[in-house]
Parts: sequence; structure tokens; C-alpha cells
Amino acid sequence: MQSENGFYGQYGGSYIPEILYSSQQQILHAFEEAKNDPEFLAELNKQWQQFSGRPTPLTFCANLTEHFGGAQIYLKREDLNHSGAHKMNNVIGQGLLVKRMGKKRVIAETGAGQHGIATALVAARLGLECTIYMGAKDIERQYPNVFWMKQLGATVVPVTTGAQTLRDALDEALRDWSSSHEESHYLIGTSCGCAPFPEMVAFFQSVIGNEVREQSVAQFGQFPDRLYACVGGGSNACGLFLPFLDDKEVEMVGVEAGGKGLELGEHSIRLSHNLGQPGIAQGFATMFLQDNAGQLQETHSIAAGLDYVGVSPIIAHLAETGRIKMTYAMDDDVVAACTLLLKKEGIIPALESSHALAGAFKDAPNLPKDAKIVINLSGRGDKDIFNVAKAVEDETFPQFLTDYLASYPTTQNKGDKA
Ligand SMILES: Cc1ncc(COP(=O)(O)O)c(C=O)c1O
Repeated sequence: MQSENGFYGQYGGSYIPEILYSSQQQILHAFEEAKNDPEFLAELNKQWQQFSGRPTPLTFCANLTEHFGGAQIYLKREDLNHSGAHKMNNVIGQGLLVKRMGKKRVIAETGAGQHGIATALVAARLGLECTIYMGAKDIERQYPNVFWMKQLGATVVPVTTGAQTLRDALDEALRDWSSSHEESHYLIGTSCGCAPFPEMVAFFQSVIGNEVREQSVAQFGQFPDRLYACVGGGSNACGLFLPFLDDKEVEMVGVEAGGKGLELGEHSIRLSHNLGQPGIAQGFATMFLQDNAGQLQETHSIAAGLDYVGVSPIIAHLAETGRIKMTYAMDDDVVAACTLLLKKEGIIPALESSHALAGAFKDAPNLPKDAKIVINLSGRGDKDIFNVAKAVEDETFPQFLTDYLASYPTTQNKGDKA
């Protein structure tokens, strides 16, 4: 979706310190040129296919469809990207842009770790230095991804300020960029931040919706009646929705994290239920969770990737104009949706994506049998094994962890053996 000077209605823009102005302009011009350059687009396509494994399939879920007895349910399988999430689409695009701009280093911030791991993979492939900022709390929740980032050669910096989650990591990444912008590119992982990031990330993610357009016509002879995507920063939602924006018959539903409840600090609902307010922070204007003095508030979600205080200005604008409908799913319903997909279809979803599943599963029984819905499965759930084991109260998992730890060659155990 094209902005008007970086704005989508009242949201977007570029509110950055003077020192970053020339770098921001450089990105703006490089992106404008690249997106119209057939050579760049051909290379992007090649990397998407050969490195990430695109196109991802559109999978019909016969068992779930029968289970709910309503709409026919399809999943767009972004979980099958290399690294296990849609994050790869954008990271490959920006990585190629970094090479084009002649920079040598990338900085990123990450919540669930999916963007961090995708950035570390692409940095390794393209020969770029890589620093990842991650909240200390998120590091605990998503340690397997942190482990791989380090093995890939990235420097992972734990952020111990504030709530120690994505918002704090973002502040640190911005600080790094301010002092290193001449050689570094801030590789933002979602459709947020100063212009042109929202548009650029949405452009790279639109490969999702563009493929769904072709696949839905080939597989069931029409566009889907309804699309569902979870909304953290908003990039997988932008990717699925934007290519269908002018097809008024296609309904779109964004699902936010309802967390544990509607009290401030217990959820990450910015758009539905009128819980966010317009504000300016972190380089752009959008709906933020904030108090009356404009102080950003703490957020919660069982899915680290949805635990963000702002939201894409594109999604905020589309929600305000009524083109997309926003709803939310509570942690418990998300875990239930995750386990239902596991048992009925043999697919392990990320907890982020399980929000989209939960939103769709609420509606599916009430839709006509010939309605076709597509749910974006933004990522796979391997990374969530610890959280899901805890949430389903698996009895043997704690014992496995205890035994595994006892057999781990720690300094103390090594000493014991000597
Ligand atoms: C699998 C997965 N889905 C969704 C998201 C949310 O991001 P966005 O709203 O930008 O798609 C994340 C973020 O980390 C993620 O890892």
C-alpha cells in the first residue's frame, strides 16, 4: 500500500533524530529504485525460491473443516519457510538492499527470536556483520533461537531495561543505529518504524498474499471469502491482506493478543476494543498502549512475537477505515487452537500464528459450508515447545528437563568426572 509522504491517514511518518535523516533518506531512495529494478526483483525471487523454499503451499484442512461443520479451512504455510516463519521474506529483501547500499553491518531487534534468527541466517549468507538486541525476558522464553543466532555468528545483546521485552530491545537497537548508521542498517522485522520501513516490509511480505491470489484461484476457483492473520507489529497481516485490498468481497480479520485479560499490562490489544490511543514513539505515529501522559505501557502475550506496544501504521489505518476487522484471542484459547491443529491436521503452529487460528475457529462454525477461509500460519511451533509444554501441563516434560540438565557437561559435572 502506497503511503502519502510516509503517512497512512494520521499514522506513519518519520519522527527520527536529525542525525539519522541522511540514512533514512538513503534507505528511502534505495528502496524506491530497487522495487522498480527488474534485476533486483529477479534476485529477490531467486533467493526466496532457492534459500527460503517459496512458494509456500496453501493447505486444505479437511479434518478441521469437518470438525467445525462450517467454512472450508485453508492454511497459508509460511511455517514452511527456511527458519520457520514469514520473517524470512522481509529479511532476504532488506539483506539484498543492504548489499546494494554498500553497508557491512545489520542491527536487528527481536521478540520471539524468529526475526533475529532470520536476520542472522541472511547475514551469514550475505557476509554481513550482525548484532541482535533481545529483551532478557524474551531470551529466557525463546532460548533455542538465541542459541542458533550465536552459532550463526551473530552477537546477541540482552536488554535488561524496562519490561525486558521487544519494546526495550527496539529502543536499544535505535540507540545503536544512531551511533553507527554510516556503516550499519537497522533491519526492522515488522511493518513499523519510520518511513519507508512500514511500506518496505509490507512490500517484501506481500509475496504471501500474491501467492494466495494465484493458489486460491487454481485450487478452488475463486478468491477466499475471508482472510485471518495474527497482528504483532503487523507484517504477516500486511503481507496477506494488502494484495486483496481492492477486492472488496474479500473480508480481512486481524487477531491481536488478548493475553490473560483486559487490564493494562495483561494483554497487547492496541486496536480492538478501543484499548490503544494515537501517539508518536519509536520513530512513527500509530496506536500505542499508553497512559494519559503518553507513557508506553507494559504488554503481555503468551506469544513473544505479539508482545508489542505499537502496531503497523498501515494496519492502524485500515482498521480505522473499516477495511479490516480487528479482534483478539486470549492465551487459553490460543493454546486450545494450537493443540487442535496438532491433533486434527498434524501441523505444529507457532503460538503467534495460533492467535489467527483461534480467531478463525470462533467464526468457522457460523459461516456457510461453501465459504472459503484462509488463515496465515505465520510460523511453526518448534520454538514454543517449552511454553506449550508448560501451558498443557505436560507431566513428563519437567522430568525430561531435570534429567537432561543432570547429564549436561557443566563445569561442575566435568569436574566430577575428572
Ligand atoms: C511466527 C510469528 N508470527 C507472527 C509474528 C508477529 O509479527 P508480525 O505481526 O510482524 O507478523 C512473529 C513475530 O516474531 C512471529 O515470530
